[in-house]
Amino acid sequence: MKLTYDDKASIVTVEDEAGTRTHGLDTPEAFEAMSKAWLRAGWDTKYVYSFAWFGRPVIQLPEDMIRIQELIWELKPDVVVETGVAHGGSLIFYATLFKAMDKGRVIGVELSLRDHNRAAINAHPLANLISIVDGSSTAPETVSKVRAEIKPGEKVLVILDSNHTRQHVLDELRAYADIVTPGSYIVATDGIMGEVVGGPRTKPEWTTDNPEQAAKDFVAENANFIIEEPVWPFNEGVVRKRVTYWPGCYVKRVR
Ligand SMILES: C[S@@+](CC[C@H](N)C(=O)[O-])C[C@H]1O[C@@H](n2cnc3c(N)ncnc32)[C@H](O)[C@@H]1O
Repeated sequence: MKLTYDDKASIVTVEDEAGTRTHGLDTPEAFEAMSKAWLRAGWDTKYVYSFAWFGRPVIQLPEDMIRIQELIWELKPDVVVETGVAHGGSLIFYATLFKAMDKGRVIGVELSLRDHNRAAINAHPLANLISIVDGSSTAPETVSKVRAEIKPGEKVLVILDSNHTRQHVLDELRAYADIVTPGSYIVATDGIMGEVVGGPRTKPEWTTDNPEQAAKDFVAENANFIIEEPVWPFNEGVVRKRVTYWPGCYVKRVR
């Protein structure tokens, strides 16, 4: 895509394989094209590696955090299971929501939690809402440990943010499918990989080897799940598509 921004005329011009189009800045098309460029520049500059939540680094696009907050408020799950802990910022984020809601707790699953990150999570004021399961997220013994921490009847939301290969995410979707509650979601994060190929730290195969593709594979084999955007509660603007690192991520259990 070639994008030209003319601030005096308040237009953008997009040139790609579909041709050349001009859009006013007040249109969703202009916003989408500029967001696409912004996301790519954000990838190249490691913009998502510049935030912390309540003292812990969180490797997320803030837009995605706001959106999942909207879903968590709507669902009010008893448990969030998140694979991929890293510094613990996202676990703390979910814990702050649960503290404010006076309901819910977080289970983090991590293959190689560093000692200083474990110590910081354990010392955090919200640590009582967090438990850590050590191990690979797809190992049967790890999944069994997660399952053992969930009580019968609890409402569960699962967020996949560990190894983002298509195969690993597909294996996670299969492994956690019966842990997520009907009406809730498994969120397959970081499908942005498919859209930033050519940038630094990317691989050509990411075009298809990514979490968004894994989600498509999964719903094709499991009729209990569909890919469906939650109903976002508020929008007085004209933009309808999320600006996100998590395209096509919301895998909903419908039965
Ligand atoms: C993108 S980071 C997680 C970021 C974190 N959720 C946040 O928002 O700040 C990915 C983490 O997944 C972990 N990981 C990689 N493969 C894994 C696996 N098979 N099982 C569990 N964790 C894994 C890595 O060690 C790394 O800490």
